[in-house]
Amino acid sequence: MSVTVTVLGSAQAVGEALALQVVTALRAKPDVVLGLASGRTPVDGYAELRRLHAEGKADFSRASTFNLDEFVGVDAHHSGSFRQFMERYLFEGVNLDPARIHFLNGAAADPDAECERYEQAIRRAGGIDVQILGIGSNGHIGFNEPGEDLKVRAHRVTLAESTRRDNAALFGGDPARVPNEALSMGIGTILLARRIVLVATGAKKADCIRAALNGHLTTRVPASLLQVHRDVEFLLDSAAASLIDRP
Ligand code: F6R
Repeated sequence: MSVTVTVLGSAQAVGEALALQVVTALRAKPDVVLGLASGRTPVDGYAELRRLHAEGKADFSRASTFNLDEFVGVDAHHSGSFRQFMERYLFEGVNLDPARIHFLNGAAADPDAECERYEQAIRRAGGIDVQILGIGSNGHIGFNEPGEDLKVRAHRVTLAESTRRDNAALFGGDPARVPNEALSMGIGTILLARRIVLVATGAKKADCIRAALNGHLTTRVPASLLQVHRDVEFLLDSAAASLIDRP
């Protein structure tokens, strides 16, 4: 088991470190399978990746991607979808083959079958090499919300109120317009990734980062389960790292 914690001076530096991790993975394995997160935190890293690609320093032509989650009832063209978010912040600026970009379809008629299809697609791709994660202020990873239990594989989930508030910007600023449910990779899907890089910035994440790194393993803090993974790195700015126990 090995959790590495890297504390950097700014959110921008966290973004640059994240991009470097991806570029290193692409160089080591051009057909790398990346697990991607949406949300605000990785956006600086995605901007850096677009910049590196424009300079000829990041070639995604053989890479595959699997995003963590999508809102239920929202199709790939909906302006609030994570798919559109990823188009805007990453996909439009790099040379990924659209056939190798994978997403859960939030508008699928049969969400359970859609989740099973996604799990099979990940398996067929050979599993995820590097999974990028953000973390919710309530400790969620993907949309695995805190609760009595957690699901192993991709599944349909009811979003926490705090998650709907945090994602209101995608739906005109109104939390009531954020779907109640999402499809998300499960905790087992995430833990099967060969390497995991979690990014967190800002004081709002300090409590959940402390609970994830220094607390007990508990379904009340889904990110705490990352402690059992053998290759996980937390890239934090000093505000997000401010409450963790130093060795
Ligand atoms: C997004 C996802 C979520 C976010 C988390 C943090 O695909 O799976 O777990 O990573 O909610 O979001 P931000 O970065 O906006 O604070």
